[in-house]
Order: sequence, then structure tokens, then C-alpha cells
Amino acid sequence: MTTIAIIGGTGHLGSAIAWRLAKAGRRVIIGSRAAESAQAKAAELGHGLAGMSNADAARAGDIVIVTVPFSAQEVTLREIAPLVAGKIVVETTVPLVPPKVMRVQLPAEGSAAARAAALLGPDARLVSAFHNVAAHRLAEEGTVDCDVLVFGDEKDAREQVIELARAMDLRGVHGGALVNSAAAEAMTSLLIFINKTYQADGAGVRITGIA
Ligand SMILES: NC(=O)c1ccc[n+]([C@@H]2O[C@H](COP(=O)([O-])OP(=O)(O)OC[C@H]3O[C@@H](n4cnc5c(N)ncnc54)[C@H](OP(=O)(O)O)[C@@H]3O)[C@@H](O)[C@H]2O)c1
Repeated sequence: MTTIAIIGGTGHLGSAIAWRLAKAGRRVIIGSRAAESAQAKAAELGHGLAGMSNADAARAGDIVIVTVPFSAQEVTLREIAPLVAGKIVVETTVPLVPPKVMRVQLPAEGSAAARAAALLGPDARLVSAFHNVAAHRLAEEGTVDCDVLVFGDEKDAREQVIELARAMDLRGVHGGALVNSAAAEAMTSLLIFINKTYQADGAGVRITGIA
């Protein structure tokens, strides 16, 4: 069975993804800078989850999902880069720069995904996804009213992430090449603005007109 490692899996998004995948019967490892924190989160969430250091999780995972804040992206990816050659790495980073998180502030590289590609090098099979899913919605039982846009230069790698989304009871939609990740990353600032303006509790994105 494929092992899925979640780097920064103790946090809001990572723990919700871990919980949904583990509930669906997948083998999932939560990673953390502190192995004890990962083990505690795994025990709290149950469903057979395991916890270990980020490095050990990256080593053990066949698919490695990165869920850390933009400010921690560089240090985290530098640590795991030598451990993920040939693996699918799913980047979820949204380049939010507090305090103006309701404004689009893409990095000089064009997107957090492009920055990740530069940090990981050509050997990782990089995909980016889950930018527009509210973590607290994902952490609740039931379906989440949104699609998951999935970006990456390799169609087969995107397909595998769409399959993971399906296991989490979400519809994944091919968003095309990794460079297109900028669109979803930017959209998150709009969604935060919309949440505030309309007092919404987790506005999301739906693609219409496809089967
Ligand atoms: N929250 C959402 O609704 C949501 C939705 C879509 C996308 N995203 C994106 O997903 C990513 C994670 O978001 P989140 O809300 O889950 O973040 P979070 O809960 O604030 O942090 C996630 C984990 O990152 C690790 N971390 C924090 N600071 C770090 C540092 N300085 N260096 C290394 N690791 C650090 C922590 O794990 P340890 O302390 O255990 O190492 C933490 O539990 C972000 O890029 C965010 O933009 C979030």
C-alpha cells in the first residue's frame, strides 16, 4: 500500500488531510519538527495514524504532502529535498504574507509552487493542490462544498493526487501545468476576503460545466 507522509502534519491543514486519508484506510504518517508532537497528534486523531520527525516521514513516504506556512516553506523543503527524489511531492503552500492576507502577494518566483520547484530540484515529481480548501471544513465529518484544483507538469502525478482527493471525499480537477498554481494560490486571498465580507465560514471554489 502507498504510504503518504505529511510534513507539518500537526497543523490545521495537514492534520485534516491525514485524518481524512487515514479514515479512508490509507497508510498515513504525520511529520513534525518534533517527533513527539507528531506521535501525540497521530494518537489524538486515531485511525492507525503514525507520527515521526519530518525527515523520517519524508524518507518513509511514497507520496509526501507538505503543509507548512509560507514562512517555513524554504527551511522545510531544504530539509526534505534529498529525501524525496523520484517521489510525488504535493505542495499546499499559499504565499500569504501577514498582515495583508486578503491581498494577493505572489512571490518573485511567480508562485509558492515555482519556489518549491526551485528548492526541490528536478528529481521530485512536484504537484500543488489544496490551496482553496478550508482546513476546519476538512477536519469535520461530511462532504466539503468545494473542488480541489491540482497542478503539476506530469499528468500521471496529478492523477494520483486527484485520486487522493477522491479518497478524502473531494473532487479533484486538473488545473494544468505547475505554473498555473499561481491562480489557485492567489484565489486563497480572495476567499479570505470573501469570508470576511460575507461572514462565510469557509468559502470555496467550484468548477462548473464539467462532468
Ligand atoms: N489552514 C487552511 O485552511 C489552509 C487551507 C489551504 C492551504 N493552506 C496552506 O497550507 C499550509 C499549512 O497551513 P496550516 O494552516 O495548516 O498551517 P499551521 O497549522 O500554522 O502550521 C502547520 C505546521 O507547520 C509547522 N511549522 C510551523 N512553523 C514552522 C516553522 N517556522 N518551521 C518549520 N515548520 C513550521 C508546524 O508543525 P511542527 O511544529 O509540528 O513542526 C505546524 O503544525 C500553509 O502554507 C497554508 O497557506 C492552509
